[in-house]
Amino acid sequence: MPHRQEGNPVHHLIAEMTLEEKVSLLSGGEFWSTEAIDRLGIPSMVLTDGPHGVRRQQGAADHVGVHESEPATAFPPAAASGSSWDPALLAEMGQALGKESLALDVDVLLGPGVNIKRSPLGGRSFEYFSEDPLLSGVLGAAWVRGIEKTGVGASVKHFAANNQETDRMTVSADVDERSLREIYLPAFERTVVEGRPSTVMCSYNKINGVYASQNSWLLSKVLREDWGFTGYVVSDWGAVVDPAAAVAAGLDLEMPPTGGRSENAIIAAVQEGRLDEALIDQAVSRILLTHDELLRRRGEATEAPVNFDAHHTLARRIAVESTVLLRNEGGLLPLDPETGATIAVIGEFARTPRFQGAGSSFVNPTRVDTALDSITARTSRPVTFSAGFRLDGEIDLDLREEAVAAAHSAEIVVLFLGLPPSEESEGFDRTHLDISPVQQDLAHAVINANPRTIVVLSNGAVVTLPPKIAAAPGLIEAWLGGQASGSALTEVLFGDSEPGGRLAETIPLSLKHTPAYANWPGSNGNVLYGERIYVGYRWYDTTDRTVAYPFGFGLSYTTFEYSDLEVQNTPGEAQTVVSFTVKNTGNRAGAEVAQLYVHDVEASVDRPLRELKGFEKLHLEAGEERRVIIELDSRAFAFWGPAGWTVEAGDFDIQVGSHSRDTRLTASVTLDVPTVANPLNEDSTLHDWMAHPVGSHLVNGMFDGWAEGGSTEVTGIDLFKLIGGMPLRTLLSFNSQADENKYSATEALERLLNEANNHREVASR
Ligand code: BGC
Repeated sequence: MPHRQEGNPVHHLIAEMTLEEKVSLLSGGEFWSTEAIDRLGIPSMVLTDGPHGVRRQQGAADHVGVHESEPATAFPPAAASGSSWDPALLAEMGQALGKESLALDVDVLLGPGVNIKRSPLGGRSFEYFSEDPLLSGVLGAAWVRGIEKTGVGASVKHFAANNQETDRMTVSADVDERSLREIYLPAFERTVVEGRPSTVMCSYNKINGVYASQNSWLLSKVLREDWGFTGYVVSDWGAVVDPAAAVAAGLDLEMPPTGGRSENAIIAAVQEGRLDEALIDQAVSRILLTHDELLRRRGEATEAPVNFDAHHTLARRIAVESTVLLRNEGGLLPLDPETGATIAVIGEFARTPRFQGAGSSFVNPTRVDTALDSITARTSRPVTFSAGFRLDGEIDLDLREEAVAAAHSAEIVVLFLGLPPSEESEGFDRTHLDISPVQQDLAHAVINANPRTIVVLSNGAVVTLPPKIAAAPGLIEAWLGGQASGSALTEVLFGDSEPGGRLAETIPLSLKHTPAYANWPGSNGNVLYGERIYVGYRWYDTTDRTVAYPFGFGLSYTTFEYSDLEVQNTPGEAQTVVSFTVKNTGNRAGAEVAQLYVHDVEASVDRPLRELKGFEKLHLEAGEERRVIIELDSRAFAFWGPAGWTVEAGDFDIQVGSHSRDTRLTASVTLDVPTVANPLNEDSTLHDWMAHPVGSHLVNGMFDGWAEGGSTEVTGIDLFKLIGGMPLRTLLSFNSQADENKYSATEALERLLNEANNHREVASR
């Protein structure tokens, strides 16, 4: 229940406010700012987009990116930066964004986006990090730590289960609690607990029938009680349907303002006794305390002028670290910048780069490096350019012919393909994973004309690879790489830098193989998360599906060796320390992402074949080796069961390698931990009772007499198998028919349930 704390520094301020003044603080003053109360010295604060750049609109305002904004650095969107697997770099990006926010009078920047990429069809995939919750959470938390340090608030979004654009403002994401807790919430949890963002943005959609903005389970129980969030919750722009219900559920600030409609509704609810005024005080208090804290921190931060050149360099560094080299047959890459004949650069994206996605995150960049200019500047070899295709998808045979001729007479081709802006954006989902037929046809002709072709992809979410492109000797996934994407790619092409990226999402062979395929995007207002916890590689690996490129994959220009895996476990606890050595065995410096997966050898519930539980990005000189130490706590082994986070005693495999299907080193650890028993109920079967640490003692031997007379020998099946699936209730009623002197089956069951469940305590398996 809300309560006024005497020690709360804004308590006296709130006590001086009228109800109308308090309520005025609960929705925006203007499209991008909160209301001020001048007589009490309460300032208006500016909130604006968005995750990879500051979109500060001084003129006409909108939340879909159609009006101009002030110039700011367009850092690589999360699709790219997720592939960096580099929290330190994300923290630097957060800090740089904080500095640009301050320069543009922005108090809260609306990011990061840590929703899970449930399907590559999601139109906003480019704004999210990964299909994996650990990777998304580690990167989200780092970004938040970086920006919050500057006294600018973060707003982690879109909380929660906002995984599609189709009907995003109304659809109900129908997800079981286990999938929420294991897949869709942990990135928010980690970002909140470790990053401590000032604000959380609730999403538009419903979760199991209740709008996120009105969902007290989500906003109060999970976010505040379970995770200890102390900042304020802001609505996504226009996400509030019933303002009073939203306040009651735990929403603090509605954005943007609604011309007084929401304020009137909240005041009426208080006056009619439907809403406790103390809840309003609580929301006001959270908003004021958060803003005060930001202003205090800002006072401590040094306010040096923004160095846009340095930020451009940082954007380039992040893009380099996010570039994923998928194929490099015969060591075609890196290219020699000095020796060799003509390099044919083909593809409109080389001249007109696609480096960010459309919608609310659209940034007006301070400058843009094109790959064509950067390549031409970097090499003394002759460089030709042909557009090859038009971005509007229209067929232009002259462009095609010119490109094929250029490919024919060049020594090597760098072919830029990808998704044009019209094919992926906030606001709508993709309907297929293909590159356009025009580009596919061009690729076919170019590779036929010159097999020494390196294909560079620009897209915000994975595309499927037609055989000709998949077989090209060089293949680079460059994502949407931010304003410095062209120069970053050039560094990688010529080997000035390593391709530092590793896939943060699986590249499937076909849309039909994707886990959510049969349930996407739902119908009649509901989308069923029928694949449950089997998202991304959890699905492909568990079902043993061949994929084009697995989660975590990416080549280097050098080679790495893994050795000496050691696992040390604290007896009686899940706490486990894993260590191993990674050595750069090649003759040049390089980057590797060492990944640790856990496989539960035997569990009482279905579990994914393996799950990422730790990783570390390493930069190693030629010949250098490093000992990696990863500490695993109980959550690394836990699943979400009826009794909450549950770790079962037994064996777990620790798999270490460079992607989800490259488990080079494996060691086993046996956890000798107390097992938390799931409560037994009236429907529990004999199997459930036998698996229960107390219940098993109670029913042990109870049915032994049944086998007398020898009938099971006839079938050859043991009795426990035959009757184990029956509810104890049913078995007891059979027993009581046989023996009329005993108390009734119902009483017996009640007595046993009491005894079993009152010892919630625990025994080792
Ligand atoms: C988007 C948010 C964004 C907000 C403000 C919404 O449509 O979903 O991500 O922060 O607009 O532009």
